[in-house]
Amino acid sequence: MSKLLTVFGATGMQGGSLIHHILNRPELSKLFQLRGITRDASKQAAVSLRERGVEIVQADLSDPVSLEPAVAGSYAVFAVTNYWDNGSCSAAIEIAQGKAVADAAVQAGVALLIWSSLPNITEITNGAVTTIHHFDSKAEVETYIRGLPITAAFFMAGWYMQNHKFLMPPKKNDDGTVVFSQTWSPTTVVPMIDITDTGKFVTPILLNPDKYNGKSFTCATAFYTPIQLVDGWTTVTGRTVTYEQIGSDKKQGNLTAEMQKQLKDSTEGINTWSYFGPNGEKDLEWTLAQLEEKLTSWEEFLRNNEPWFPEA
Ligand SMILES: NC(=O)c1ccc[n+]([C@@H]2O[C@H](COP(=O)([O-])OP(=O)(O)OC[C@H]3O[C@@H](n4cnc5c(N)ncnc54)[C@H](OP(=O)(O)O)[C@@H]3O)[C@@H](O)[C@H]2O)c1
Repeated sequence: MSKLLTVFGATGMQGGSLIHHILNRPELSKLFQLRGITRDASKQAAVSLRERGVEIVQADLSDPVSLEPAVAGSYAVFAVTNYWDNGSCSAAIEIAQGKAVADAAVQAGVALLIWSSLPNITEITNGAVTTIHHFDSKAEVETYIRGLPITAAFFMAGWYMQNHKFLMPPKKNDDGTVVFSQTWSPTTVVPMIDITDTGKFVTPILLNPDKYNGKSFTCATAFYTPIQLVDGWTTVTGRTVTYEQIGSDKKQGNLTAEMQKQLKDSTEGINTWSYFGPNGEKDLEWTLAQLEEKLTSWEEFLRNNEPWFPEA
């Protein structure tokens, strides 16, 4: 009999990607029935999922009472919070939501909880950097989950490739040249994930929860320098794209002022402590060795997401 997998963030990138991954693979669809959680079952993304056979349940991570019925009967729960939701940008809200969904999973007797986590930057930097709230808050929830009586594993997403399609794309200058601007030094390495690969990382955990109990997956295709990113655009689009390192106070792409303020330290920090900390490259190597499916390279992502500079 198939087991119920409940996915938070079903209408978003991480949760939605996991659902699509399972729906697109008959061997996984046979094993897992899907339930997607949303605050608004009438939104188009939820309706489309229902049309594909996903059970849609309405619940709100900020309303603990709604969470127990949302996870009831589940074999596994994939839980992701959105720190940036509606510009809330609140560690306290994210921590409360994460703990509430974990408590609900324990109460409902869920066998496996997969938490979308991130590294604790305060710990990685020995207290030198304490302002990367959207990382530390997820890590605090992870620590809480590790103390609960539930089998759990942790999905830590790298820097989304999608950030540079929607939020921080390269910009065309008046003279027709195209420039990619970021705060990273040209030699900094950034772990990049095509977030539509989420299911490729989560599937091994779903299939072998005991093996991965307590393990953290460091999720990216590879570490890329900004120079490799612009070389990718140049190869794929045929337009020369150059890299410009900018100060973190300069306006970046389509970020809101609050997002830019909050991301300032983390984008700068990637230059020094790196995104996943000092063991990031080794941890990524371990994670990649657990996977069955090939991940999307930066160049493949660029080809899959054309056009880039249609009127350049
Ligand atoms: N961008 C990056 O490079 C990056 C890297 C690593 C980690 N992250 C983290 O990824 C997280 C966002 O995940 P995502 O990219 O998948 O988000 P997304 O595409 O923006 O979607 C957000 C999802 O969260 C759901 N959601 C938000 N608030 C909710 C609530 N109170 N109750 C129930 N569901 C709620 C939304 O559902 P409804 O609106 O349908 O209710 C939606 O499905 C953030 O916390 C961010 O820090 C981002």
